Amino acid sequence: MKVTVIIPAAGLGTRMGRGAPEKEGISRKQFMLLNNSPILVHTIRKFVSCELVNEIVVALRGDDLAWANELFANQHFSKTVRTVEGGESRQQSVENALASLSDDTDLVAVHDAVRPFIEREAIEKVIREAAETGAAIIGIVPVDTVKQVHRNKVRATLPRERLILTQTPQVFRLDLLRQAFERARKDLFVGTDESSLVERLEQVEVSVVLGTDRNIKITKPSDMELARLYLSLESATLELPR
Ligand code: C5P
Repeated sequence: MKVTVIIPAAGLGTRMGRGAPEKEGISRKQFMLLNNSPILVHTIRKFVSCELVNEIVVALRGDDLAWANELFANQHFSKTVRTVEGGESRQQSVENALASLSDDTDLVAVHDAVRPFIEREAIEKVIREAAETGAAIIGIVPVDTVKQVHRNKVRATLPRERLILTQTPQVFRLDLLRQAFERARKDLFVGTDESSLVERLEQVEVSVVLGTDRNIKITKPSDMELARLYLSLESATLELPR
């Protein structure tokens, strides 16, 4: 079974509009340093160390390709880590990476560059589930009550026991994901995750594999404090005598 991981990392990393100046340290968070390595490199290492993964494709902005290729070469990863140029949106970046995959790929796992604390067990579990069913994502149950609003008025309270908060990796059979992207392009549909594209195909049900809240998406400045804590916990575990 050939499993390829796609990591979209071509974002400007700002929710304040494209080209906005770096503000409050949230810009290009995939390259912020944690213990001397960019967050993206921590993320890549998690997949390199997973036996089920064959290769990793990182989508980057054109301007970042040269230095990132050099950075990756210096890491001497034990697996192929290659780069492609990303696009204007996360979806376009994943689509560009998808176009670069060889047809003998069985499963594609898409993972956010800014989720470096994904646990190896979770990666393995979601890949195994997708190998059986065709499509699987990581999710966690919400602890807060989620409400639908219009402006600042509550319109509905969503039954919490029927909700999950989705994370990545999201893993799909290659042919299914390619069809999903083709359909989305035809319909001009833009989703915030890959699963939403596959769901609208209505070919397979997407399975949910429960993850943990350790798999944070580093998004706001305060997330870096949590990230440093999680990283120190990881190193503490690694240093335990075997
Ligand atoms: O903006 P958001 O947090 O949803 O971005 C998620 C991921 O998609 C980030 O890792 C970001 O670098 C990536 N992205 C991309 N190409 C874009 C925009 C975002 O690869 N054009």
